[in-house]
Amino acid sequence: MTTALAVSRLLPAADTADALRTDVLAGLTRHSKQLPPKWFYDARGSELFEEITRLAEYYPTRAEREILVARAGEIAAATRARTLVELGSGSSEKTRHLIDALGGLESYIPVDVSESALVQAGMALLAEYPGLSVHALIADFHQRLALPATPGPRLVAFLGGTIGNLLPDERAAFLRDVRDLLGPGDALLLGTDLVKDVDVLIAAYDDASGVTAEFNKNVLEVINRELGADFDPGAFDHVACWDAANEWMEMRLRARAELTVKIPELDLVVSFDAGEELRTEISVKFRQAGVRAELAAAGLEQRHWWTDAAGRYAVSLAVRS
Ligand code: SAH
Ligand code: AVI
Repeated sequence: MTTALAVSRLLPAADTADALRTDVLAGLTRHSKQLPPKWFYDARGSELFEEITRLAEYYPTRAEREILVARAGEIAAATRARTLVELGSGSSEKTRHLIDALGGLESYIPVDVSESALVQAGMALLAEYPGLSVHALIADFHQRLALPATPGPRLVAFLGGTIGNLLPDERAAFLRDVRDLLGPGDALLLGTDLVKDVDVLIAAYDDASGVTAEFNKNVLEVINRELGADFDPGAFDHVACWDAANEWMEMRLRARAELTVKIPELDLVVSFDAGEELRTEISVKFRQAGVRAELAAAGLEQRHWWTDAAGRYAVSLAVRS
């Protein structure tokens, strides 16, 4: 018999609605307009991200999978984890390589803001791994997490390169919180995309079939639905560019012409000049020394650094220092 999927909402729906209002008000009334990337991920946004992972141009998912396939045995031997916590778990697709390798794994705790992604992934995993306890948490990984009591050692995984979507001060706070989640014998498995040829990066974030453009514009659909706004996604162009000083990709939405948008729930009218850009995401590309230093600053020691054969992407294993 398959046990039911446990789902806990650590984020009350009303708090999520408040957070969206706060972020949209702050982000669209400042001089350089910007929005946090977590608002991409309603059910449609999560589907679009999965489509992105299958695009020829979007190499990070394949590169990370290559590393996990090659290193899952070493990760299992080094951690002997009985609980796997995964932050920003999405479809949990690549996680199967870890679950398969971790012979003693008893409990899997996926954590995500996307309820649809959590439920879909959780149901599929329960069916595939009948002996595994799966407890999904609808939560924001920027907030300190109260995890269910499960057996240690615990492995906390943060895959997909999602750490690159955090600004430097958010990353520092996030890594300190992760460190506080780890006890002796616990570990962090961290996926990071690496600095590489700009043309490869631009293609990955501006694919020929336009899926990434649709993903980018989905944030406008979310604001329309949740806050009654009247954004016309067709009035914006998808922009992907490389910020060499910060070594990050940026996704932006550029207004094709001067326009205004009404956001009744905020009692707000926002004006865009022709060509004005709204930053919707950063995606940092790392180097080993930088990852090691950021981990160390948070009280974590990088014990392993594995890359794919082409050196595009890395997975680190770290413990409390
Ligand atoms: N780890 C998966 C999915 C990466 S996509 C992979 O490697 O393929 C990023 C995931 O992080 C999405 O599922 C999104 O819903 C989730 N996410 C983004 N911001 C979040 C936040 N602040 N808190 C929790 N989950 C978040
Ligand atoms: C989830 N995150 C790591 C993806 C990235 O590559 O930064 C999101 C994404 N944005 C555009 N394409 C994919």
